[in-house]
Amino acid sequence: MSEHQHASSSATVSAFSAGRKPIVEMRDISIAFGGIKAVDHASLELYEGEVVGLLGHNGAGKSTLIKILSGAYQRDHGDIYIRGEKASIDNPRDAKRYGIETIYQTLALADNVDAAANLFLGRELKTKWGTLDDVAMEAATREVMGRLNPNFRRFKEPVKKLSGGQRQSVAIARAIHFNANILIMDEPTAALGPQETQQVSDLTLELKKQGIGIFLISHDIHDVFELSDRVAVMKNGRIVGTARVQDVTKDEVLGMIILGKCPPGAIPGPGALNG
Ligand SMILES: Nc1ncnc2c1ncn2[C@@H]1O[C@H](COP(=O)(O)OP(=O)(O)O)[C@@H](O)[C@H]1O
Ligand SMILES: [Mg+2]
Repeated sequence: MSEHQHASSSATVSAFSAGRKPIVEMRDISIAFGGIKAVDHASLELYEGEVVGLLGHNGAGKSTLIKILSGAYQRDHGDIYIRGEKASIDNPRDAKRYGIETIYQTLALADNVDAAANLFLGRELKTKWGTLDDVAMEAATREVMGRLNPNFRRFKEPVKKLSGGQRQSVAIARAIHFNANILIMDEPTAALGPQETQQVSDLTLELKKQGIGIFLISHDIHDVFELSDRVAVMKNGRIVGTARVQDVTKDEVLGMIILGKCPPGAIPGPGALNG
């Protein structure tokens, strides 16, 4: 308890985190666009091998909060700690240095080239003669895809021919191959069918097993309950509360999302209704 005395990390009081240190701590983060407080004094943490589901209506501030962590936006206020140390994250390159990678709904894949070319896009391996080392890149791709999606066989095909779930696994492979240990997934299945959504769910659980911490943003409360250890609900830029999934019901979480009402099993944040 003594190492977590600051008020912003009340979530660490939960039994889940007993004796563990968060890999990410966002403390008292705020950002405004024009007059709108998109994120308003939000604090949130993430532990190794933990999936935290971030829920809330459209415009609640979920994407903005995680874009601050990924370096896409610069915060007006607050601090980010990575493994207990204050981090300076001012752009996406900084975030990657801290092992933070993001998977968006709109995948930034190069459609006309294969999985290996995508994995190493902009970070190609070269031979000692300075030419592209296709053999090494394909071998590395097979290794990482083998861990994530062992049934994947379509290494020689352009990724535009792959299914949505397979494309998602290529994007995730790229993220973790470059040593991401903090993964942000913003609506990763919004464009996918049920089968492919299941594939991404399996993938998420596999990453978790490997100790990767994941922020999962999704509008699908059922998915979030299936995959997450904890949920955090945002409303009007504020954290309504955080809770371990076993401590709250889906109905209670809906009450958090819609009304800002924090149930007994959750730890209230600044966005919780009073009384
Ligand atoms: N780049 C931006 N410029 C101006 N307003 C923005 C920008 N990004 C987000 N916002 C605003 O911030 C608020 C939170 O948006 P967002 O984080 O996208 O919500 P969510 O991901 O929860 O749907 C919204 O009011 C949105 O219009
Ligand atoms: Mg969003």
